[in-house]
Amino acid sequence: MSRTVLALGRPSEKQQLFLKARTKHVGFGGARGGGKSWAIRDKAKRLCLRYGGIKLLIVRRTYPELMNNHIMPLQSELPTVVAQFNKTEKLFRFCNGSTIRFGYCNRDRDLDQYQGAEYDVIFLDEATQLGETWIKKITACLRGANGFPKRIYYTCNPGGASHAYFKRLFIDRRYEAGENPDDYTFIQSLVTDNKALMEAQPDYIRQLEALPPKLRDAWLYGRWDIFDGQFFEEFRETPDLALCEKAGITSEQAFEQRRFTHVIRPFEIPRGWNIMRSYDFGYNKPFSLGYWAIDYDGILYRIAEVYGCTQTPDEGLKWTPDEQFRYFAEIERQHPLLKGRKITDSVADPAIWDGSRGESIAETANRYGIYFSPGDNERLAGWMQVHYRLQFDENGYPRMYFFDTCKAAIRTLPLMTYSQTKPEDLDTSREDHCPDEIRYTCMSRPIKPSAAKREARPLVSFDPLG
Ligand SMILES: Nc1ncnc2c1ncn2[C@@H]1O[C@H](COP(=O)(O)OP(=O)(O)OP(=O)(O)O)[C@@H](O)[C@H]1O
Ligand SMILES: [Mg+2]
Repeated sequence: MSRTVLALGRPSEKQQLFLKARTKHVGFGGARGGGKSWAIRDKAKRLCLRYGGIKLLIVRRTYPELMNNHIMPLQSELPTVVAQFNKTEKLFRFCNGSTIRFGYCNRDRDLDQYQGAEYDVIFLDEATQLGETWIKKITACLRGANGFPKRIYYTCNPGGASHAYFKRLFIDRRYEAGENPDDYTFIQSLVTDNKALMEAQPDYIRQLEALPPKLRDAWLYGRWDIFDGQFFEEFRETPDLALCEKAGITSEQAFEQRRFTHVIRPFEIPRGWNIMRSYDFGYNKPFSLGYWAIDYDGILYRIAEVYGCTQTPDEGLKWTPDEQFRYFAEIERQHPLLKGRKITDSVADPAIWDGSRGESIAETANRYGIYFSPGDNERLAGWMQVHYRLQFDENGYPRMYFFDTCKAAIRTLPLMTYSQTKPEDLDTSREDHCPDEIRYTCMSRPIKPSAAKREARPLVSFDPLG
């Protein structure tokens, strides 16, 4: 008669998908309480039992978190005949030679512990809490001349230091050079997918429901386009479900009616509408050029854009001013929505008129037949104008839309966060080139806030009285 030494748990459906995933990078979760840490422990145990001698690493931001979420639970789940914990080495050693080591990373010098180390499988629990550079340095330890699987598992909640990195990889699935889309799988697991927790602690979901709206949407519903500190809280890439429900329409109907959303399908621009452009110069940083159609009511439609996505001076697209303006002139001759159209207005960052080092950027543009006037750079007033444009009126119509082809604006607007030092401004260390150029556009035709919202609540994140 055989005796069960180690009973593995019963994974939920989403956890099963996680356990079965075979790509090199596997993302899991995206909300609170979905059973992420449990899934990591379960997968780690299965790998250790199956591949004798395999080397695993589980990382969290701090050692106390490792203790609470992994080491203590594993100590009670793993009989000592199967595996023993060595406190000095921070490692479980299995009877078949497999090991699970625990690593943390809360500052740069914590990276020393990963120098020269080799692991077959790495688990980054709450990976969005770790900086992107740290993640890359830790995952560089994934190597070994053996036949064991080589994989990295990430669990994450929206928000945190590398929110944008994981949103790009797992939600937007936008890949850069050297990243193969087939290497990435993401399995979303919400608290409602974790039946064990729902049964054991039905109150937990109510705790999540009671969170402030932004955090609640992120942690309960796993929404990645909002997070604490988000500057354009009102921006909606898809129709706002709560507002649709209130208005008694489906999100499909809202999308067709262009209500409760800012992103819409492109359409032919009527001949009578004006077209304008806005520009933020960049060379060692991204440049951003937006084209706008303006309807008879003054509503703005971002219909096309060119975005030079240079992340650092050493990589990516890096166009000189000449290259940029030559291309813009070409775009205006060729683009189906722009060709044959007169551009009636054109605004840019006032800094491009600086001629102290020879020909100014504005003068270079003129050589290609592109003429700008200086944008109004009053930042706070400008952001208020962007907010007013994004507000939905009582029927759910905003006064600024984005064609769904304008990927850079749609991607970067939700990434903006509040400045730590100047609460009503945005944090300029982020990728704010589209927002800046959108601000110049809005400032070129200022509007009043919509009546429906004027009394509703302050538009900035701080309360000057409180
Ligand atoms: N398949 C399962 N069987 C039994 N219990 C489970 C299972 N999955 C998760 N749990 C339990 O549900 C609770 C929440 O799970 P877990 O801590 O893994 O969630 P999480 O997504 O990591 O949460 P957080 O976002 O708070 O880190 C824990 O008590 C865990 O032990
Ligand atoms: Mg967890």
